[in-house]
Amino acid sequence: MKKAFIFDLDGVIVDTAKYHFLAWQNLASSLGISFSSAQNEQLKGVSRIRSLEKILEWGNKTISEEEFTRLMSEKNEEYLEYISKMDATEILPDVPRVLDLLISKEQAIALGSASKNARVILDKVGLRDKFQTIVDGTNVSKAKPDPEVFLIGAQELDISPEDCIVFEDSVAGIQAANIANMISIGIGDAKVLHEADYIFKDFTEIKEEFINTLVKTQKV
Ligand code: BG6
Ligand code: MG
Repeated sequence: MKKAFIFDLDGVIVDTAKYHFLAWQNLASSLGISFSSAQNEQLKGVSRIRSLEKILEWGNKTISEEEFTRLMSEKNEEYLEYISKMDATEILPDVPRVLDLLISKEQAIALGSASKNARVILDKVGLRDKFQTIVDGTNVSKAKPDPEVFLIGAQELDISPEDCIVFEDSVAGIQAANIANMISIGIGDAKVLHEADYIFKDFTEIKEEFINTLVKTQKV
């Protein structure tokens, strides 16, 4: 059977979630706003625009449209600084093993990320050619938990949503996969990602037998 395995990028393939966090934290503190790690979980998977809107809401701050645009580009410049230094050593454990396993089983592989920097990052870590299709923040108009990003991926691979499996580290992304009627696999903390169909700490826990089961299973 042929399934589509859709991977989120930040926090799933590479540990860029820490760089997003650093850059947002610096921006927030320049505005006199602080936010907790629980609030940071709500920023994961969420678009750049929506993230800044949330931070401003938490700080009860209203700013002009120009200021908003300026802050978004400042945040991205700091983030680009961090990712400019990335290489293959920042790929999260066992991600290449799972990708190669899926390729050896002739399964379809897509990227489904909210980031507009996804292609740059995949190039930097040398994983771009593992993906048959890339859907990222430049291709979608609706932020996760809207399922748009994953539905476009499924459509581009010509595989129906029930035959798709999504790997995600964010609450918004798990919700998006569930809304799309895809199998959701949380990568990270089980307490945070409890809405997922399956949860693993990281890819080292994902064995070949489990992949074989997924290839045979359909979302019900
Ligand atoms: C998601 C991240 O993958 O992409 C979010 O989890 C981030 O933290 C979003 O805000 C948008 O990324 P970028 O690179 O376009 O600012
Ligand atoms: Mg993520």
